[in-house]
Amino acid sequence: MPEPHLPDRMEKDIVHAVDVLQHGGLVAFPTETVYGLGANALDSLAVARIFEIKQRPPGHPLIVHLGDVAELSQWARDIPDTAKALADKFWPGPLTLILPRSEQVPDAVTGGQDTVGLRVPRHPLAHALLQRFGSGIAAPSANRFGRISPSRAEHVRAGFGDELDFILDGGACELGLESTIVDCSGPQPRVLRPGNIGAEALEALLGNNLGRGAIAEAPRVPGSHDSHYAPSAPLYLVSSSELVMRVQAHCAHGERIAVLSRQAAPTESSAHWEIMPATAAAYGHHLYASLHALDGAGYDVILVEAPPPLDAWEAVADRLRRAACQAGG
Ligand code: TXA
Ligand code: MG
Repeated sequence: MPEPHLPDRMEKDIVHAVDVLQHGGLVAFPTETVYGLGANALDSLAVARIFEIKQRPPGHPLIVHLGDVAELSQWARDIPDTAKALADKFWPGPLTLILPRSEQVPDAVTGGQDTVGLRVPRHPLAHALLQRFGSGIAAPSANRFGRISPSRAEHVRAGFGDELDFILDGGACELGLESTIVDCSGPQPRVLRPGNIGAEALEALLGNNLGRGAIAEAPRVPGSHDSHYAPSAPLYLVSSSELVMRVQAHCAHGERIAVLSRQAAPTESSAHWEIMPATAAAYGHHLYASLHALDGAGYDVILVEAPPPLDAWEAVADRLRRAACQAGG
């Protein structure tokens, strides 16, 4: 990908961001999925600060972001042909590959595992930052552990105040949901986290040689902690047919209710009712912004209309399930 031409203000911001990274600092930056909280991936102390600030448990590995597909071989070894094919087809883009790590990858990044997550983002600012920095940037989503991922710079500011050294502001993220993660370190590629690049697109490239769903017993499955992606008020997923009845029942108890639905509100409802987009792409783009806006707004309950059971909605459905309360609590 050629270096993008950026407006002067952005040029200055990129130069500053690179300087911060080179001095061991932390920079939040936009990607096409969500904002990342970045540090020099080769600087173990800087990477340790990510864990500290995010309050992320140690051993929960980070994705290393790269500026170009050609850098893959510096960070991974024994790269199978399937991974090369995925990288050629989908990078730069919203795909993370899990591969056996090369010797230069610090334990701080991988949590001591023998694999590393790698991704070449396509957002022009992320791309420019990575190209100028010239090395890998380790970055989880720029939210505190267990909270909603940031799809706008103001979500990062609201979450961290001035604790970060710099926030590169690129406005709203195009996709709004985290990357698809495919584990290519085993005998068969396996989707660990659904995202914008769906199983169908992956299968079109790999044939039906694709494992689906995270392995339940794997120790560090992405988002396997219960509270992942959760707002502070309890969130329940409700089928379209039961939604109005459930809303009325909560309102009858005097509770303050927020509803995210693809249907219009019934005229008599006292709930805060937000109409969500009808397509999966637009819904994904808006979801975290909607949840951030509801977070801390004092609602007793958030009711979300369950998404359609279609492949195109898999990533949205996955994030909503993780945000939702488990049955009984
Ligand atoms: O879209 C994204 O992927 C964003 C942007 C910033 O790139 N990043 C992101 O990072 O979502 P994070 O850390 O919030 O989620 C990455 C997930 C984690 O749940 C982590 O467990 C998993 O990827 N992961 C990273 N390295 C791994 C590895 N070596 N093996 C298994 N899972 C890994
Ligand atoms: Mg995250």
